[in-house]
Amino acid sequence: MPQETTASPIGRDTPRVDGPLKVSGTAQYASDFHFPGLLYGVPVEATIANGKITKLDAVAAEKIPGVRTILHRQNIGKIFRSVLGKGIEGICIERRPPFEDDVIRYYGQYVALAVADTFESAKAAADAVVVSYAKEKPNVEDKLTADDDPDEVMTSYGPAKRRQSERGDAAGAFASAPVKVDQTYVTPAETHVPIELQGTTAMWDGDKLTIYEESQAVFNMRGVLAQMFGLPEENVRVITKFVGSGFGSKLWPWTHCPLAVAAARQVGKPVKLVLSRKMTFQTAGHRARTQQRIRLGATPEGKLVSLEHDYICHRSILEEYHENCGEATAFHYSVPNLRVHFGWARRNIGTPSDMRGPGAVPGLYATESAMNELADQLKMDPVQLRILNEPKIDEGEGIPFSSRHYVECLQLGAEKFGWSRRNAEVGAMKRDGLTLGWGVAGAAWIATRDSAAANVELRDDSSARVACGVQDIGTGTYTVLALLTADKTGVPVEKVEVVLGDTELPFGPVSGGSWATASVVPAVFAAADNAISSLLQVATTTPGSPFEKRKPDDLAFQNGRVFVKADGLGGGVPFADLLKRANLRLVSGSGRSEGIVASKEKPKFSMHSFGCHFAEVTWQPEIARLRVNRVVSVIDAGRIINPLAGRNQIEGAVVMGIGMALFEHTTYDPQNGAPINSNLADYIVAVNSDVPKLEVHFLDYPDLKLNAVGARGIGEIGLAGIAAAITAAVYHATGVRVRELPVRIEDLLKSSVLT
Ligand code: MOS
Repeated sequence: MPQETTASPIGRDTPRVDGPLKVSGTAQYASDFHFPGLLYGVPVEATIANGKITKLDAVAAEKIPGVRTILHRQNIGKIFRSVLGKGIEGICIERRPPFEDDVIRYYGQYVALAVADTFESAKAAADAVVVSYAKEKPNVEDKLTADDDPDEVMTSYGPAKRRQSERGDAAGAFASAPVKVDQTYVTPAETHVPIELQGTTAMWDGDKLTIYEESQAVFNMRGVLAQMFGLPEENVRVITKFVGSGFGSKLWPWTHCPLAVAAARQVGKPVKLVLSRKMTFQTAGHRARTQQRIRLGATPEGKLVSLEHDYICHRSILEEYHENCGEATAFHYSVPNLRVHFGWARRNIGTPSDMRGPGAVPGLYATESAMNELADQLKMDPVQLRILNEPKIDEGEGIPFSSRHYVECLQLGAEKFGWSRRNAEVGAMKRDGLTLGWGVAGAAWIATRDSAAANVELRDDSSARVACGVQDIGTGTYTVLALLTADKTGVPVEKVEVVLGDTELPFGPVSGGSWATASVVPAVFAAADNAISSLLQVATTTPGSPFEKRKPDDLAFQNGRVFVKADGLGGGVPFADLLKRANLRLVSGSGRSEGIVASKEKPKFSMHSFGCHFAEVTWQPEIARLRVNRVVSVIDAGRIINPLAGRNQIEGAVVMGIGMALFEHTTYDPQNGAPINSNLADYIVAVNSDVPKLEVHFLDYPDLKLNAVGARGIGEIGLAGIAAAITAAVYHATGVRVRELPVRIEDLLKSSVLT
């Protein structure tokens, strides 16, 4: 593995620079901010999932002490629709402004908003609003059949062809293939449950709007709210200093944001609206349910000849969020004949949205599960099957990969896991009276960059400051910005002040798609270079400076010191001394970089991260007890800027993957359409006691086609593939092939290995 030895802090384990603020309770999250005269808003939730409001009676609610107003369709005032902009702009998954009509399309849709002096009064008032409905039976059916949509559909992100990718003759090659797998895999609706709830605090100053919001994308939110309230963008400020995780649920504005803003406009005071956990299940997105038919055709030697991926995902009645399960299918393996096609099924549910590894995570669960089934059918090692089908280029796009080391991931993972000791026979491996199951699966996730801007200052107290309007959603962006600035300026990480999460700062990218880090690298580097140029200018123009007679071109800057190039590194003068001599508090530089994520040009390289997981489960047939006992993950995500936080990201994703494989599913009540397990007691996620020792390895090959550091992203890749590795291990231990997540005890009771 390539390793550089430099004085740079990049690549060294660095504890979070914002950690002390968080553990001491001094970090202020969006809803921790209080303002004089602050009022509280509590929405009224529809108790049906399909129908119409026939009457809304707020008389009793208005009489509750402390109530300022009850807002509903008649009195909320104008809220405009927003439209998609160019690239990552104007994105809003639920486009319908709240209260736009009297139609109820999903359970929990907001129908009114109580605003009061205290949260308690507002809640009592919301509960006292009496709403009558003309009710119809909701469609929350689990079984998905594709609606009659056109071949090209409009999605939340723009137009998409339902036939996503095609080469050769997939159906013909499948028909004549000597070995076939034809199975359907189902993933349930899953809901993001970040511990910090969603909420907005909105306040107006004349025609200027400020909101505190736990946003993964403050600039997008600014743009959408400006449209919704008919304001110029510069009149809207969005602030997000800390985020208690998002997993995608906080990427785009939800309907509570304009509600809080409209309420603050109406009452002329700041209004805080924080969702309940139940509301977040209803109106703040979830991962769509998917049903994916995979057909694999292969030769007896295991060479793929055909791959068909036909999937259906659910969507809401009005919105067009698409769970792009085919994201990785066209390039992950070499196969001459391929077809990826999707359909949608409308349901009376709040719209699905992005959730960690959107598309690729459920997609790879299906395709990697099918690969494992093919390996079993061929009696072939699933690692070897994958290596045998390694592509030379991205066969979907017909372009080379920027950097792909998937085979090395599999080989290193096999070695670290001890895969060579595998006995492939079901139920054959035992340890300490437990049956062991082993499984493997591959992972992939996009690597890209959004545009970004940054400002870097070098200051006379030897410190530096870096500012960028990106967010830290708990993933370590504060620390990444400090590390990048430290790398360029030689200022120690602890002396770099990091400012982010505010639309008053230079433009920052979305904290999503695992592209925040890759995006900020060029902007911060350019800003630091410009600050250094200013410093060299100062050094050569300050009377009495040791470099007074020199030209800036004669000088160089490294490790925080300015020196004469010809003299070489070693001597030189610290930048703070030069600033003091010039009586300057600071020099600063700005930098900007263009993104590639929204580029219309055909890319020259296919950029992705890769990885794999090896999972071990233990199975106690006597009591039908299944545990995930060990996971080894190998990730090829370019250069890792902070391995400590990087491992933490992968471990967190594996924990989420254990939840995906074994626990998580949102259940809709067929009677009233409500997500019924809408709380942390009934929506089961993996907790400490479910999580074994996790081993994470990074390959650390810089992807210099993406940015100067070669860093890709690591937020999402760790969740890809893990469920397929676990279900393969479950099969190996129990003989039960589970193709609908999560794996349930009821499924395992069918095990022939039960004795
Ligand atoms: Mo991620 S679903 O892009 O926050």
